[in-house]
Amino acid sequence: MKSAIPGRIVCGLVAASILVFMLSATAGAENSRFREDFTKSYRAGRISALVYLVKANKETIPAEVRGIMDEALAPGTPYAEKMDLLDLASAMASMYREASNDPSLADEVLGVQRREIDKENARLAELKKWDKYELVTGNIVMKGSEAAMAEAGLTPVIFPHWTHRLYYDCKACHPGVFRPERGGNGIDMAAIYAAEKCGVCHDGKTAFGAEKDCARCHAAGRPGAERLMDPGKLDLKAVGETATRLGGAWRPERLADKTLPLDRFNSIDWTRLARSMVRRAAPGPAAAESGTVKRHGSKILFEPRMDFIKNVVFDHGTHTEQSACSSCHPAPFKAELGANPVSMREMGSGKHCGACHGKVAFRFAECNRCHSIDKTGPGPAGVLTRGARPRR
Ligand code: HEC
Ligand code: HEC
Ligand code: HEC
Ligand code: HEC
Ligand code: HEC
Ligand code: HEC
Repeated sequence: MKSAIPGRIVCGLVAASILVFMLSATAGAENSRFREDFTKSYRAGRISALVYLVKANKETIPAEVRGIMDEALAPGTPYAEKMDLLDLASAMASMYREASNDPSLADEVLGVQRREIDKENARLAELKKWDKYELVTGNIVMKGSEAAMAEAGLTPVIFPHWTHRLYYDCKACHPGVFRPERGGNGIDMAAIYAAEKCGVCHDGKTAFGAEKDCARCHAAGRPGAERLMDPGKLDLKAVGETATRLGGAWRPERLADKTLPLDRFNSIDWTRLARSMVRRAAPGPAAAESGTVKRHGSKILFEPRMDFIKNVVFDHGTHTEQSACSSCHPAPFKAELGANPVSMREMGSGKHCGACHGKVAFRFAECNRCHSIDKTGPGPAGVLTRGARPRR
């Protein structure tokens, strides 16, 4: 025997709890017979039954409709349920309009429906209000403490990777100052004032300080934010001065047509910019220990099985100029040829190449910037092939 409780008592408990359940179920269900029949016929699309029901219950319908509306508008009713109830009220009211020749009830329900839909749309728009700032590749809206910011009369912070990349390589910040993970660094003002996180540079010397100029960082919804959205309008001369001050270099005269190369998302095409040797990165802050970063030169050929899609070369050279080995090894890649089953689906959800591409480096929509190697022909020289790959 598993339990010491006699079977008779267990049966009694079960019966009692069923009884309690039934009582509580009936207590909530005060719906009239008419409403239940109407709902059933409405869901089943039985029009003639509905016509009959409405004719037989004409007097009570206005009260029924208002009851349903009250239920829908009661605080805490989830949106889907609210719209469901209003839909029922609307069906009842429009049939009542036909039967009674009085349109006022149906109009009233329609007005409530419209108002609730508008309210919901406004709520959704409010949630997405700042999304537009992330249309430029690498811009991150930081709003973990949005309520505290609002209390101080400020809006969320826009962190523009791209303006920082004008001066620095990734390794100036990753992994020494920040883990490359959205929301993964517990950034707050206390840390910034203590010369940590953003404050490593935003100390009033390397870059503008945090004691004043609040809105230069807390820029969402402010006029200054437009500048962080438009690399095409950059003041190249001012960038040159800042780069020199930081110990880097900037030679805009080497730009093909005197403007920054942009991709079709109005974001900087960093590969073309690197080829024209316009920029030399400034050394990062000491906190990043950027001097210790190593280089690795191998190129690795990825060969998708499908014939219709070109091969991909991953170049350690260009990547390790920017990023520390630890940005990729041991995660998201084991440093072993062919040891990582890479697929577009996984990359799309932020794995493997998707740890950076699609977030800070160019997006997946630009297929041929990766899939650039013809499958017919001799193939590129000096690349490592991944051999028999593990099955996904
Ligand atoms: C000036 C400092 C700085 C530089 C330079 C920098 N980053 Fe970042 N990066 C950050 C900060 C800050 C975050 C956000 C961290 C947080 O939310 O806690 C971040 C986040 C990220 C993320 C996560 C993004 C997401 O949407 O989840 C990736 C990936 C990343 N960085 C890659 C890079 C790469 C690649 C480079 C170089 C091309 C680079 N970063 C250069 C500061 C920097
Ligand atoms: C490695 C140094 C470094 C770190 C770390 C850093 N910044 Fe910057 N940031 C700079 C420099 C340099 C500039 C441009 C110089 C200037 O205008 O003073 C700049 C410019 C900016 C701008 C552009 C302002 C404008 O009006 O154009 C914003 C916004 C900004 N930083 C926000 C941040 C935030 C937020 C963080 C932390 C999440 C951060 N930065 C971390 C160095 C850094
Ligand atoms: C260099 C950029 C930068 C500047 C300048 C800056 N902030 Fe912030 N601030 C941040 C970041 C980053 C956060 C954290 C964002 C998050 O919660 O995701 C933050 C958060 C806050 C918060 C939320 C609570 C807290 O303490 O973290 C308040 C309030 C705030 N800032 C006030 C100010 C005020 C006031 C000023 C000007 C005196 C200012 N900030 C200047 C970057 C900045
Ligand atoms: C941007 C990401 C990235 C960075 C940064 C990176 N690697 Fe790799 N590494 C890869 C990928 C992708 C592979 C291929 C894995 C596979 O075939 O499954 C690889 C493979 C390797 C391999 C095995 C193939 C070979 O080249 O012999 C070694 C060794 C290696 N990496 C060393 C390094 C070292 C050392 C650094 C830093 C100097 C570094 N990697 C930085 C992405 C990176
Ligand atoms: C640690 C971040 C990071 C990871 C992971 C990463 N990349 Fe990149 N990649 C970059 C950055 C930064 C650039 C510069 C261009 C840009 O920012 O748009 C770049 C540029 C490239 C380029 C164009 C320049 C060149 O090197 O030929 C190719 C192709 C490329 N990546 C392929 C890949 C592939 C394939 C993978 C996965 C096997 C991968 N990358 C993983 C950050 C990364
Ligand atoms: C950042 C580089 C990168 C970009 C951008 C990219 N791919 Fe890929 N793609 C890869 C890598 C790496 C593989 C893995 C190859 C293998 O099988 O070893 C791959 C694999 C594939 C495969 C094989 C099946 C699969 O899903 O893994 C297809 C099909 C494909 N890519 C299509 C596309 C298309 C279409 C686009 C543009 C919308 C695109 N790729 C953009 C790097 C990229």
